[in-house]
Amino acid sequence: NAMTEKLHNIIAPYVGETGGLISAMHAVQAELGYLPEDVLPVAADLFNQTKAEVKGVISFYADFRDQRAGANHVRVCVAESCQSVGSRELVAALEERFALKLGETDLARELTIEPVYCLGLCSVSPAAEVNGKLVAKADADKIAKRVEA
Ligand code: FES
Repeated sequence: NAMTEKLHNIIAPYVGETGGLISAMHAVQAELGYLPEDVLPVAADLFNQTKAEVKGVISFYADFRDQRAGANHVRVCVAESCQSVGSRELVAALEERFALKLGETDLARELTIEPVYCLGLCSVSPAAEVNGKLVAKADADKIAKRVEA
């Protein structure tokens, strides 16, 4: 099918490269925004591995997604410095406000909330990012405002 063919074209150039499978998966995600299910058989075939092996490699890396993210993409820092000033509470507040768990996407509402490990804003923790824009001293109100903007 068309998707299989597309995946084949994206992945094939990486066969034979060192770390080629990971590079290929990054390329697929960069192009499609996620890794569709068909990626397993196509990559397994091209790299001469089992689907389980490919799946193992993919699931080792947290940054691969199996569906596209919502148009509104919230990332909350849950690393050390932010945790020490309440990122856990911030996550809880966001989960309640948006009725969505950390790590989940609701495509009907075009919303994704994900954890991230340090945004480089430790001095103004807790930190978050909404649609690529950093939010210092983040709280649920600030984040909601940006999501709704
Ligand atoms: Fe959160 Fe660095 S730990 S921005």
